[in-house]
Amino acid sequence: MLLNKPLKMLTVAALVGSSLSFSTFALATTEIKAAFNQSDKHPQYEALKEFGEKLTKETEGRYKLTIYPNELLGDQRAALELVQNGAIQMAVVANPLVENYDKTFRMIGMPYVYSGPEHQEKVFTSGVLNDLFKSTQRYGFEVLTAYTAGARSMYTKDAPTETISDMKGKKIRVMQSDTMIKMLSCMGGTGVPMSQGEVYTAVQQGVLDGAENNEITYADLKQYEVAPYFTETRHLMVPDLVVISSYFINSMSKEDQATIRRLAKESTPNEFKLWNAQIERAKALVIAKGATFTEVDTKPFQDNCKPLQNALAETPAQQTLLKKIAALQ
Ligand code: GCU
Repeated sequence: MLLNKPLKMLTVAALVGSSLSFSTFALATTEIKAAFNQSDKHPQYEALKEFGEKLTKETEGRYKLTIYPNELLGDQRAALELVQNGAIQMAVVANPLVENYDKTFRMIGMPYVYSGPEHQEKVFTSGVLNDLFKSTQRYGFEVLTAYTAGARSMYTKDAPTETISDMKGKKIRVMQSDTMIKMLSCMGGTGVPMSQGEVYTAVQQGVLDGAENNEITYADLKQYEVAPYFTETRHLMVPDLVVISSYFINSMSKEDQATIRRLAKESTPNEFKLWNAQIERAKALVIAKGATFTEVDTKPFQDNCKPLQNALAETPAQQTLLKKIAALQ
């Protein structure tokens, strides 16, 4: 069990009668360990850090957040399991990982479901996802809020992939879920599920022809070195989810639970701002390193993926959620 509760010792001078005596009281500060799979320069890291600082302040030092970046606590799948069994308290995981527990999460991570960042921010902050986010408590974790991870595009080793036929036969890494494999088929290629940490080497060794991700991850993880052709398909805006262990949140006082839930929600608009501020920097950096960006007509890709959207909305509840998302455009 990695969970620990360091004690902050507070020495207090207590005045007893006319003599000065010192007594030592223990004031408990609970450490919240949060797993993060990217670097400490990433906008989500910054947003989480600010969230943690506010939490410490508002709980008068009862909680302190420590973020472990760069998959130090394992890849997202492992991190989610650690959160579930209470070994760590929080993690940021991509939506497809949670979708493996509850298929309704597919509705918020399907190809071309958002018209752009403004639409996505409205969906994340409007409250339409509140019930969905609470529903995972039965699996031992709760989704506190969603963060944007921008729009994902294809990038490849040998040439841009401008059309569905350019994608034919291309082996492209996808995140680990069935929807992501299907998504890659509707884009015209073959999806290979894999954790993020393995992508660079797999492309380098020719196991993959490329991958798909946002510009910030592409730059941060130096994937432009092995796949320099970035084609702006913008096929997905998959949310990242900030999850907390049910075991842990239930151990907090009702008041502290309300504080952590509120502060997490409030950190989302901030994360969108931090994200937007880093996009251009990431693009400029990879262009300077020799990567090329190719704009494409996304309409044929959208049309090809439309049947998948409809097929994934299987239940009335899922269809209702999809309609609510569309209504926020
Ligand atoms: C994005 C996303 C991560 C995810 C990664 C991936 O960078 O923000 O949460 O892990 O894509 O493709 O695995």
